[in-house]
Amino acid sequence: MSAAPVVNAPLDLAAWSQRHLARVEQALSRWVGEGAPAGLGEAMRYAVLDGGKRLRPLLVLAAEEAVCSGVAPDEAALRAQSDGAALRAACAVELIHAYSLVHDDMPCMDNDVLRRGKPTVHVQFGEAQALLAGDALQAFAFELLTPDDGSVPPAVQAVLCRLLARAAGSAGMAGGQAIDLASVGVALTEDQLRHMHRLKTGALLQGSVMMGVACGPADAQAHEALSDYGAVMGLAFQVVDDILDVVADSATLGKTAGKDAASDKPTYVSLLGLGNAQAYARELQVQAHAALARSGLADTRALAALADMVVDRTH
Ligand code: IPE
Ligand code: IPE
Ligand code: MG
Ligand code: MG
Ligand code: MG
Repeated sequence: MSAAPVVNAPLDLAAWSQRHLARVEQALSRWVGEGAPAGLGEAMRYAVLDGGKRLRPLLVLAAEEAVCSGVAPDEAALRAQSDGAALRAACAVELIHAYSLVHDDMPCMDNDVLRRGKPTVHVQFGEAQALLAGDALQAFAFELLTPDDGSVPPAVQAVLCRLLARAAGSAGMAGGQAIDLASVGVALTEDQLRHMHRLKTGALLQGSVMMGVACGPADAQAHEALSDYGAVMGLAFQVVDDILDVVADSATLGKTAGKDAASDKPTYVSLLGLGNAQAYARELQVQAHAALARSGLADTRALAALADMVVDRTH
């Protein structure tokens, strides 16, 4: 695999994203909320459709593309199987993310009224329905990963489920959210803050990358390098989220700006100051590129472009 020549031609990220996002949006729109009773489907669709950058799905698809970049063009069946699994993984991780946002916004957590430019799910549908929509989205993520039509080999299904469960649970997002809530008004050390960010946000981003890796063929070198890439990208993403909470406005973010300071949350900006937090995000960007360079993969251009997007983004 690593014998394939490295692809250096510039990548048009906008065109690449548009192509992949079209598949993700279409699949989500087809699958989410179908047949759910008593208004639950409407709340689920409201939480997932028409909004969001879809970074996590893009990371899954870019990672799968990278590990498949050494697959011979005549192995079309292998690519088709890997693509199908990756699309399911991309949608599954977005469902977990959407559920985490629904719960994160509830009055018992961050108590936010604006998300993705719309009223939050509990504002629109009530707290009980928001709770259930989150629950149902989480369950549906795992259903998507386990089709019974033979399209995804059982061994791949199992690995994808394990990666997503680890990233979403107490060792990942949910655990990080617990630390977040326990840290209001607390002066965390840099190590403690990094740990919180790695869990609450980083785990799902790293999990996205590794789910993409699990869909295709990857040797140990590629596996380790992309795991490192996912870890630094995941941390960088939340560092930038902390920065944007301070420097951007609510209209641009589609969520309430200035919430972290108002809620007395420890963030990279509160700990290091704005300039140092920005410098740290840049440092992580450099580390992400370095990880890709040691992957031995032929084409990591989409992953590289996504690393730049994460740090340069304005919302
Ligand atoms: C927001 O994530 C929550 C965090 C983990 C920081 P995103 O910034 O990816 O939110 P959407 O999906 O684009 O709305
Ligand atoms: C959210 O962190 C992390 C999640 C697991 C949802 P934040 O609370 O900072 O996310 P935003 O700023 O509300 O999107
Ligand atoms: Mg929060
Ligand atoms: Mg929040
Ligand atoms: Mg935030």
